[in-house]
Amino acid sequence: MNATITGWGRYTPQAVLTNDDLATVVDTSDEWITSRSGIKERRISHIVNSDMATAAGRQAIAAAGLEPDDIDYIIVATCTPDRQIPSTACYVQTKLGANNAAAADINAGCTGFIYALSMAHGLIAAGTSSKVLIIGSERLSTYLNLAERSTAVLFGDGAGAVVVEATDRDEGIRTMSLGSDGSGAESLTATGLGTNFIGTEARLAIVMDGAEVFKNAVVRMGDGVVKAAEDAGWDLDEIDLVIPHQANIRIIDAVRRRIGASEDKIFANIHKYGNTSAATIPIGLSEALEEGTIKPGAKLVLVAFGAGFTWGASAIEWGDRVDPVSKVEVDYGEPDRTALEMMIDRQRAFT
Ligand code: UT7
Repeated sequence: MNATITGWGRYTPQAVLTNDDLATVVDTSDEWITSRSGIKERRISHIVNSDMATAAGRQAIAAAGLEPDDIDYIIVATCTPDRQIPSTACYVQTKLGANNAAAADINAGCTGFIYALSMAHGLIAAGTSSKVLIIGSERLSTYLNLAERSTAVLFGDGAGAVVVEATDRDEGIRTMSLGSDGSGAESLTATGLGTNFIGTEARLAIVMDGAEVFKNAVVRMGDGVVKAAEDAGWDLDEIDLVIPHQANIRIIDAVRRRIGASEDKIFANIHKYGNTSAATIPIGLSEALEEGTIKPGAKLVLVAFGAGFTWGASAIEWGDRVDPVSKVEVDYGEPDRTALEMMIDRQRAFT
């Protein structure tokens, strides 16, 4: 059986935090953030991660023309779980009412969605699942310390989801390649959460050696696209769209130059959402479909790099349907504070 994406959805929180908002409380400027990263604004969630994930998942299930009970496995890729125990996926399972689904999280940093996709691919190839819901969902705003300007300006909240189904049609996931190098662990890590920090004064914070991560991301993501195309038997110029992880527009542009593609062949929405880690690719996929950028039969490459280090890429040949079978409204209410107010309130935890 082939494994193909039949449904997609996203939840992007309503509250917008602009670079100018951030510059009122962080020693930074719109000019610095835009020129160094391409980010103009990001979203700050007023709801918990599992609610964001559920909202995206509900849309993906409807877009596939399924009911929650049809799903047999839910995988949530996240490094910002609601709790350590149980998995965020278990909250999503009950919130969706997906009564026939197994549920588990996976943490591969910003590569989490590609790792989850490879699990769905494997479950379907093994015949143990036929309808897998995978969700990349992150509430990274809770990790941000406004006193750390090198990381506070880069990340945001959001969720994206896809349904992967078994099919005998000649379409879907063509290749998968994953890798890791744990010797890069200290280059991108979070302090304050995890058993190592029990009884310590360590504060919740993302700690990143930006230049080191940047350098590795450019090489691994460029290699990933080239390998995906080679393994699929495609020439690079046959790729219709690359959806790369959104960490920095300069990384995305370096990948584009590496494969000699024009700008319209590389999806970018980082200006709107910043880096939402495991959520960037499924949010991007859902937006690209809605915008009509993905046509029936399109040759896609998804590629990511993240904490670990981890990396992964997948070549996908899209099927005939580029419209959702049906749509659902998701309503989690309006935030009662602005994005900036939410961030300032959270900052009190650090001071
Ligand atoms: O999702 C996967 C993981 N993440 C990534 O892939 C991110 C990879 N890294 C990056 O995107 C980039 O390295 C950054 C955007 C994080 C930084 O860009 P950079 O061009 O590598 O800048 P830098 O770290 O070399 O910093 C340059 C300067 C420093 O000042 P000095 O020492 O040159 O005077 C920083 O203190 O910019 C300063 N700086 C800032 N200035 C204003 C750092 N953060 C800020 C800030 N506003 N927010």
